[in-house]
Amino acid sequence: MPPSTTETGQGLRLSVVHPDPQARAEWRRALQSLLPAAQVREWAAAAQGSDPSASAHATGVSPGPGGTPGAHYGVGWRPPAAFFADNPDLAAFLAAGAGIDHLLALPGLPPALPIVRLEDAGMADQMFRYCLHEALRRLHHEDDYRAQQRAGGWQELPARAPADLRVGIVGLGALGGAVATRLAALGFPVSGFARGLRQLPGVRCRHGAAQWPAFLAEADLLVLMAPLTPETRDLIDAAALAALPREAWLVNVARGELIDDDALLAALDAGQLAGATLDVFRIEPLPAGHAFRQHPRIRLTPHVAAQTLIAPGARQVTDKILRLQQGLPISGIVQRARGY
Ligand code: GLV
Repeated sequence: MPPSTTETGQGLRLSVVHPDPQARAEWRRALQSLLPAAQVREWAAAAQGSDPSASAHATGVSPGPGGTPGAHYGVGWRPPAAFFADNPDLAAFLAAGAGIDHLLALPGLPPALPIVRLEDAGMADQMFRYCLHEALRRLHHEDDYRAQQRAGGWQELPARAPADLRVGIVGLGALGGAVATRLAALGFPVSGFARGLRQLPGVRCRHGAAQWPAFLAEADLLVLMAPLTPETRDLIDAAALAALPREAWLVNVARGELIDDDALLAALDAGQLAGATLDVFRIEPLPAGHAFRQHPRIRLTPHVAAQTLIAPGARQVTDKILRLQQGLPISGIVQRARGY
């Protein structure tokens, strides 16, 4: 059966924005191949230069049989305010990532424009492997054995099983929930903390301020996977760090602003915390002289715990646009009042 005109994207216009020209072009190509009859163009601020092969500002697009005639969608990552000023007719903006805090903070974001987050789209698997890697390092005394090797030592440490490492996951959304259930299935005792009541197989779910200290007290490995909102900014402060079991390890794969950096350094220096694995920072790239850079008990990665995969991302975005065009509900619409 030939694809319907709605499936081919006839009558649709898509403007793709991305700070990385190569990623922008890849997104355009992926979307265009999924929606061959749509007008897909790259948008770039004048200084960035747009791809001359991309279609120019789309005009006179004929409407498809379903949806809004000539509906125009924005797709991409870190759009500047000028993107929205140049494209005042967007029906929605579909972000090429999971965390949209930067968007909500953007002056010039049209107040009523629907924003849609990417949900999983290949990120949950990556997050799971990143967190499992950290859990296994702890379980197998990786840091202690490396320190021993450097010092020429030869000392057996007690064997540990997953049941010996309690994992606490803050944020139980598409990514945090997947990591929590998959670690629990491997035998790690997993607790999760979310904004509201959650139920996940094998995971002890907690919520509410009253349960926060008890949640922290049972997290040998504390993993931050919550969105950045006014509620989560500086969530991991001196009091939270003091509530962790001694020798706990902190993993941040969410946003740098969830942690009070000075409190983290103080907790490391005081021996309260064994160490931290940080993938995200208040300023990225992390400035050259930052205290985290050379800290012996901080492991850094450059915001790669879950990278956006363009092929599944474009499929999800296309799917959602086609559903919106048909007047069908979609998930992942950002609720601005709650911040994600
Ligand atoms: C990356 O940080 C994302 O939010 O997808």
